[in-house]
Amino acid sequence: MGVPQDAARRSFAMHAGGSSNGKAVQEDPAGEPDLLPAEAVVDLAAARREAGIDAVLGSLDTDLVGLEPVKTRISEIAALLLVDRVRARFGITAQQPTLHMCFTGNPGTGKTTVALRMAELLHGLGYLRRGHLVSVTRDDLVGQYVGHTAPKTKEVIKRAMGGVLFIDEAYYLYKVENERDYGGEAIEILLQVMENNRDDLVVILAGYADRMDEFFAANPGMQSRIAHHITFPDYTVGELEQIGELMTTTLGYRFSPQAREVFREYLDKRVGQPWFANARSVRNAVERARLRQARRLLEQPDPRVDLAALTTIEADDLLASRVFGTPNP
Ligand SMILES: Nc1ncnc2c1ncn2[C@@H]1O[C@H](COP(=O)(O)OP(=O)(O)OP(=O)(O)O)[C@@H](O)[C@H]1O
Ligand SMILES: [Mg+2]
Repeated sequence: MGVPQDAARRSFAMHAGGSSNGKAVQEDPAGEPDLLPAEAVVDLAAARREAGIDAVLGSLDTDLVGLEPVKTRISEIAALLLVDRVRARFGITAQQPTLHMCFTGNPGTGKTTVALRMAELLHGLGYLRRGHLVSVTRDDLVGQYVGHTAPKTKEVIKRAMGGVLFIDEAYYLYKVENERDYGGEAIEILLQVMENNRDDLVVILAGYADRMDEFFAANPGMQSRIAHHITFPDYTVGELEQIGELMTTTLGYRFSPQAREVFREYLDKRVGQPWFANARSVRNAVERARLRQARRLLEQPDPRVDLAALTTIEADDLLASRVFGTPNP
């Protein structure tokens, strides 16, 4: 982001005044929060800009293809927090809303990426002190022996304080078939922290929808602490194509017109094949095309290259893929 988050937050704190958790309270010399009189009028558009919401939502929109329901929910959350802040300027101090979330979707649908953006946004809004993301799986939280789990889980929570704790494939924390499993201990500690430290830590659980449902059924305490269930749909081929274009452009490449056609065929085939992982498969395809392009350039009889050659992915760079049945990609 262009504007440092801290600057955005400070300026927001200056303009928006009070906060229910005392993090962004502007005090007058007497030490009292500087409240607005009841007849005051606040410009929400200005408050939005100052909190950096427009910048984060704008880049979310341009950097991420599709995901409309996800984008809508995020802007709703941003609106809620902003309105909360403005209410606090008038002295209405409600409890901070709970923001623990669950992201369900297949691999490569953007869950980790959106969690990072969410951390940024919540930091910009002054909800999170640091706005970093700590991404973990079961192995980071659960120990192998008696007494190992609590310190492990607490250490992770400590690292995540002030930011987002992202627990990927959260259902692995809980193993129904195994009584001696220590996952339950980690869940207990998490539940406490999610309740007691919710103004300083946002927990995002992520995973496949059906497995998450089972997990919640077995852990109702967890279910009741999650305020937002956000579904990440699979991308359409058209969206995958746009994601590929976006990725190549960002990397400083472009598809030749023929390559663009081949890329579409590639995606048509790839979505039906094993281990398809949405945007992650697109990223991998683009990376392999880069490798083949580089090899092609080095192997061509005339060793001289121009900018166009260096930046163009040709049809052959994609056609060599295993997806088209080529034995040695
Ligand atoms: N909507 C999108 N637009 C552009 N790029 C995207 C989009 N969604 C995902 N990506 C890119 O695809 C890759 C995979 O995304 P990400 O890691 O966020 O998915 P994920 O749902 O966390 O996957 P997994 O379940 O495998 O962890 C990243 O490089 C990300 O930048
Ligand atoms: Mg991920």
